[in-house]
Amino acid sequence: MDSVLVVHGPNLNMLGKREPEIYGSGTLDDINRALRALSDSLGLTVSFYQSNHEGDLIDIIQSAVDKHQGILINPGAYTHTSIAIRDAISSVSLPTVEVHLSNIHKRESFRHHSYIAPVAIGQICGFGVDSYYLGLQALANHLHK
Ligand code: DQA
Repeated sequence: MDSVLVVHGPNLNMLGKREPEIYGSGTLDDINRALRALSDSLGLTVSFYQSNHEGDLIDIIQSAVDKHQGILINPGAYTHTSIAIRDAISSVSLPTVEVHLSNIHKRESFRHHSYIAPVAIGQICGFGVDSYYLGLQALANHLHK
């Protein structure tokens, strides 16, 4: 059974309390629970990781080699700043789907650019928690092809 590493970047541990008008009222645990339930029906296993620290995110991405077949990542604000996370994704050569709760393209201009998108299979944003579910579904389809 294929295994997917789900990576949540900085400030996503604050979901539920953080700007609910933008990010909704669900918590990270709610998202992870729903992803686990979805993974069962998609024939995948999922592991979850959240960090507020760039180096920790790089370490977990590097350690995914030989353990996981794909990565679902919401890099949070590092999306717009981190060449190092992009390089980590490139270096592991695992199919990666980038997701965002909000539509980063209709927010402040500094959120319009993603360093991650060019090394991802694709990006899904703007659908709230559904971005994660759609992302996992897309990754499952890619892995099962
Ligand atoms: C986010 C969008 C980012 O711009 C922001 O910094 C976040 C959350 C999202 O899921 O919409 O932390 O990745």
